[in-house]
Amino acid sequence: MPTQSVTSAHKPQITISSSPREASAGLAASIAEAIRDRASQGKTYTLGLATGSTPIPLYQELIRLHREAGLSFRNVYSFNLDEYYGMSPSHSKSYHHFMRNALFDEIDIPTEQWHIPNGETPRNEIGRHCQAYEEAIENAGGIDLQILGIGRTGHIGFNEPPSQADSATRLIILDPLTKKDAAPTFGGVEHVPNEAITLGVSNILKARQIALMAWGEGKSEILARTFNMLPTPNLPATFLLKHPNFSVYLDRAAAQKLPPNLTCQPL
Ligand code: GLP
Repeated sequence: MPTQSVTSAHKPQITISSSPREASAGLAASIAEAIRDRASQGKTYTLGLATGSTPIPLYQELIRLHREAGLSFRNVYSFNLDEYYGMSPSHSKSYHHFMRNALFDEIDIPTEQWHIPNGETPRNEIGRHCQAYEEAIENAGGIDLQILGIGRTGHIGFNEPPSQADSATRLIILDPLTKKDAAPTFGGVEHVPNEAITLGVSNILKARQIALMAWGEGKSEILARTFNMLPTPNLPATFLLKHPNFSVYLDRAAAQKLPPNLTCQPL
């Protein structure tokens, strides 16, 4: 497919920082402000959360703000993007386990306010489970801010190519490249699950604000392709270009192959 310049009506706001820690600190400060602002009005704030190595510096900074700056998460609801299918929440490689370790057990978010798809849902109940997950998001007032990483296949959540813009929460088969990238975590590609439950592209695009983070040279190629293409199911992250409130946080290594026509803001 020929590459084309982005002609989307909305240009993403791209921030390039000298390190993941610096970029994450800026994003964490704006999240803290939004949470406090809602709390002062007696209202809740709903986060869409991601897993993988990318959001770890953000979660570390949110934990620091909780411990050192009194940031409370009592008015926060959260919904994770995805979970490996066939995996118990207590499994050491599950996203449940990851999120408890990386964030939830270190802050004061009430247990009943964070949500992750259940990887142990019986196959014949997956449709109902996915629908209930979407309804829970609606009942929480929708996602205020969706945090995203990006996979080297161009996936967001686990929306592997091809994923349509109107795709809903569902079971998906993982791409071989995604399994290869997860292999070190699992101690070999043969131990990586074949499937996952993921929010769909349509659910992600419903968030009022979206923040995509990416660090390191390994993400530079897929980012360059994402920002050089019109939205296509073959690279699901390109659908983010349709969103009116889409911000991108990169370090210099991740940003090195971006097309020059994008407005970048070096810090
Ligand atoms: C997994 C997650 C994605 C994440 C991606 C990138 O596939 N389901 O949400 O964006 O990994 O992982 P990493 O942040 O480790 O590069």
